[in-house]
This record gives sequence, C-alpha cells and structure tokens, in this order.
Amino acid sequence: MSAGDTAFTYRHNTLFAEDVALHDIARQHGTPCYVYSKTALTSAYRGFAAAFAPHAHLICYAVKANPNLAILNLFAKLGSGFDIVSGGEMARVIAAGGDPGKIVFSGVGKTETEIRDALNAGILCFNVESPSELERINRIAGELNKVAPVSLRVNPDVDAKTHPYIATGLKENKFGVAYGDALALYRRARDLKNLKIDGIDCHIGSQLTEVAPFSAAVERVLALVHALNSDGIELAHIDLGGGLGIQYEPEEAPCSIEEYAAAILKGVAGRKETLMFEPGRYLVGDAGVLLTRVEYLKRGEDRNFAIVDAAMNDLMRPALYQAWHDIVPVDSRPNALEAWEIVGPVCESGDFLGRGRKLALKEGDLLAIRSAGAYGMSMSSNYNTRARAAEVMVDGANAHLIRKRETLSALYANEIVPK
Ligand code: LLP
Repeated sequence: MSAGDTAFTYRHNTLFAEDVALHDIARQHGTPCYVYSKTALTSAYRGFAAAFAPHAHLICYAVKANPNLAILNLFAKLGSGFDIVSGGEMARVIAAGGDPGKIVFSGVGKTETEIRDALNAGILCFNVESPSELERINRIAGELNKVAPVSLRVNPDVDAKTHPYIATGLKENKFGVAYGDALALYRRARDLKNLKIDGIDCHIGSQLTEVAPFSAAVERVLALVHALNSDGIELAHIDLGGGLGIQYEPEEAPCSIEEYAAAILKGVAGRKETLMFEPGRYLVGDAGVLLTRVEYLKRGEDRNFAIVDAAMNDLMRPALYQAWHDIVPVDSRPNALEAWEIVGPVCESGDFLGRGRKLALKEGDLLAIRSAGAYGMSMSSNYNTRARAAEVMVDGANAHLIRKRETLSALYANEIVPK
C-alpha cells in the first residue's frame, strides 16, 4: 500500500486528505486545486531512506517532480539533498532552506551563468553530460579560482521499458556520455586542474516498474567503476539516479521500494562509495491529488462528456503520455455508474484527464484525480490564459495554502504593447 492510499481515505463516504475533508478545501481555496499530504510525503521519504539504511547514502530529491517551496523545505528538514536541472531549481532549493552542499546538478544544457552560480553556491557535484560541458566547467572554475566537483553521467544503454518520452538510458537518447567514451573522459577530467572527480552517475528513465533494468544499470556502472579503479581513479559516490515507478493503475504492480533496494544493495555489496539517488515521482506522486469540479455533463451520440474545471494545462500527463490517473468522486454515492470522458475546457481534443471512466456524476460534483503529486503542477502551463491552480498541503487537521491561485492580471503583467 502506498503512502497516498493511507493519506486519502473516505470517511462517511466523503474523501479526506488526512483529517481534512476535500470539500472544505474546495470551499476555501476553490478548484482546480492540488492537495498534498504532509504525512504521505514524509513517509515516502522515510521509506526510501529506511530501505537503503544498510549502506551510506544520500537522497537527492529530483526537484522537477514538484518544486513547491513547502515541499522542498519539508524534504530539506528530513535531511534530503536535491537533484536540480536549472539555475531556477537551485534558486528554489536555496529559497526553501535546502543545503547547497547537498545539491547535484544534472542536465545536458548547463549555461555559463548556471555553472558559475552553482560553483559560487558550493554545490556537491555536477553531473556532467558531455565532453564540451566538462571543458566549460573546468574553465569557469579556473576563472573563479575554484575546484569543481564532477561526476560523469554515463549512458549505460539499458532499456528502461517505460514510455519512450521518459526513457533516458538508451544510446538513442540525448542524455549522458556514451558508455564506451566514459573511461577516456574520466582520464581527461583527471588532467584538468580545476576539476575534482567525485563520482559516477546514471539515470535510465522514469516510471520504471521492473527491477531488472535497474540491476542491469548497476552492473554496467560498476564495471566502469572497476575500470576506473584499475586506472587509479577513486570515486566518493555512485549516483544511480531516480526512476522508481508508482502504481497509477489498479492492475499495475510496480516493484516495491524493498525489491528495488534489495537489488541495488546486492549489486553494490562490499563497495565503500556513498550511494546517491535522485527520486522524484516516488517521493511525491502518491502524496497529491488534483481536486476538480464538474462544470457540465454533456451527453453525446457516441460518448458522454463530463467537463471539469481542471484541464491539460493543469495536468498534462494524460494528454502528453496517454498516462492513466485514477479519478474518484469526493462523495461516493451508490448510484448507477455510467462511462464518462473526463475532459477540461481547453480547446484541444487532446484535453482529457480520463476516458471511459465509470462514475455516477452530477453537475457540481467534486472529483479527485489521484497520484497527481509528481509532474502535475510542475508541468502546468497557462495555455488558454488559464491561471495556475492553488496548492494546499494538509498536515493532520490543518490545511495550509502553499501556493496561491494565480491572478489573471499576473498572467499578462510582463507583456508590453508598443506605443
Ligand atoms: N534524475 C534525472 C537526471 C532525471 O532526468 C529525472 C527525471 C529524475 C532524476 C527523476 O526521475 P523520477 O524518480 O521522478 O522518475 N514528466 C514525466 C517524467 C519525466 C522525468 C524526467 N526526468 C512524467 O510525467 O512522467
């Protein structure tokens, strides 16, 4: 059972987030609204940490999954580090009270400014993704009179068996340094005097549901570590990226954190390097729901549409990846179920949140779209000039507003009509 399953439960047929009725949140903050459970976030983090307790490790939460300051602050307090992919994410981590000394910086396109700012902030490590980037970091570190800690993100050429848009560890993907080139690039890094080799890194994809690709990646990375050691290059850490999946569909059975940890710990048995991880989805996905209200029920010749006030701009995953999210009524009634297309108001046929969902609906009903804590708000946009949703974090009987709903005037505040 996931942390989210225990945090979002029905009491007297109405859905609660911890001890707060979702109805009350909708009344106070309006819809659409993201609602997160602090308990679920905390227990996902603690569960991950407990699974790897036998080996020295650092969890670097992948900020892109959900970058709200309140969430970053919570993880920072729990001891987490952070995996960032932009200067913007670094600014958020620091604003939220995160420790720059626990930041790893991934991404294929780090700009000069981002590298300089990260060096000045004193981050833990750059996950370098190309020879040109390695040279650039060395040059900038030299200009600043600093030594940059680096790790090479190697592409282990392992099939993550996930959606093609979120697989990153194949030769055809833009990520990382080709496996066969890694040794030579490490030797180059050793010769550059403003770099310090700190580790090795890989990330093969997201929403992985099987253990085997992770085991294969560990094996490939360790083979390189052995080769590096024979070459006299010692590493302080091995970063295995993120990617552990969560259960979106009832019939899916993603591998558990225990199975995942067991496979990895077996692979690294006897190694002294600190293990690092960059989980995003696993820590936040099940801890959030998107609360939305049914505006209209529209019966068509072919299908019935439930038009809700959330749309693809709020939760892009169904439109972009044909992702399936469970959609449940906030008030569960014993009425007859009908199949509904759950769609938003955006002018695109791809604007659906769920298709053919069996629900008993009436106009004005509240729905909760589950497992929306990861890559929900973080991928939202203002398409159709829609203000981004409010975000609320529930802690026991308290519901804290952690992001105000955007105001419409703010959406065009930066626009200029030439005189
Ligand atoms: N580390 C790196 C270098 C990454 O690129 C990612 C995700 C992570 C860690 C975290 O992966 P996670 O543990 O969350 O699987 N928007 C997509 C997911 C894109 C993931 C991109 N990289 C979705 O909604 O499914």
